[in-house]
Amino acid sequence: MAKKILVTGGTGYIGSHTAVELINAGHDVVIIDNLYNSDRSVLEGIQNITGYRPEFHQIDLCERDRLEAFFAGRKDIAAVIHFAAYKAVGESAEKPLMYYRNNIVSTLNLLEAMIGNGVKPIVFSSSCTVYGQPDALPVDENAPVKEPSSPYGNTKQINEQMIRYTVEAGNPLGGISLRYFNPIGAHPSAQIGEAPQGIPNNLLPYITQTALGIREQLKVFGNDYNTSDGTPIRDYINVVDLSRAHVVAVERLMNGHNRQGYEFFNIGTGRGHTVLEVIEAFEKATGQKINYQIVGRRPGDVEKVYADTTYANQELGWKAHKTLEETLLSAWNWEKAYRKNIKAQ
Ligand code: UFG
Repeated sequence: MAKKILVTGGTGYIGSHTAVELINAGHDVVIIDNLYNSDRSVLEGIQNITGYRPEFHQIDLCERDRLEAFFAGRKDIAAVIHFAAYKAVGESAEKPLMYYRNNIVSTLNLLEAMIGNGVKPIVFSSSCTVYGQPDALPVDENAPVKEPSSPYGNTKQINEQMIRYTVEAGNPLGGISLRYFNPIGAHPSAQIGEAPQGIPNNLLPYITQTALGIREQLKVFGNDYNTSDGTPIRDYINVVDLSRAHVVAVERLMNGHNRQGYEFFNIGTGRGHTVLEVIEAFEKATGQKINYQIVGRRPGDVEKVYADTTYANQELGWKAHKTLEETLLSAWNWEKAYRKNIKAQ
């Protein structure tokens, strides 16, 4: 029987790109998603790129009985990559319990169902937000996990700990958390990409929507930080590069090569860019002018964070390859294709 990799949240932004990279690497994929923040049409995008339509189940991981029913009797799930979660930092501050219920209960149910059905390894979608504002930059994996700056960030910390303690308790499970920096861009085919509902929270979709005239003006949140031009610094990583890190991580687990049972890696480029540098690079890559205005700081934003990727480079043999310019161009091409598609429907 061909073994499959289960991707939870597989119709979402990073999940769908990871499904593509898994299929391209020769793996069979099954997707579970509740479609809360994504759409079935993503499956077509995956199929258009890979020539293969993954098995799909619309299941909410918080529905324990349905999740158990999915796993029961299936002997073909070799590993799980767990993306499904709420991810809006601001919303999590307004509705903390909604975030704890969804992001914690889902992982709890998933781990229990995996263990109950003999499914071993899990790769978890974590975030550099666990480091807060690091004391030293670039931030490596030895940096302490800081007091969370949002309930969302706290759910990432708790999830990591749940997986870690479960592995350390000797349960038949290996785990890797990938701590992403700022994922941006889209598949170069423009078949899949980031499709936030409503007003985007993140920088890149706000930029592409402003370029297309959907948003009138980008607000740059603060230029009084201690950086070269006063705007905050982030490590923007191409979503395809990021997706490939998941392929490497899940293969490492399936091949039994994770030495410590539970591991975590920083997944970034190792380079930091200010907000104004990103805007300038976008304008250069696409020829589009961005109407923007500097406004006050956004509460909760850290000043600068970028990754030391040495450990991921050496241990996983993984590295980010794509340039900022080609990544920004891919985001722009996706935004145009996506809007054209919506209009045509
Ligand atoms: N920004 C703007 N204007 C906008 C949106 C963002 O100036 O309209 C700026 C932000 O102030 C920040 C940078 O662009 O300096 C990046 O902001 P994003 O919202 O795109 O990303 P964040 O770095 O805030 O968020 C990321 C991850 C989260 C994680 C968080 C922790 O997306 O998952 O880091 O701080 F929780």
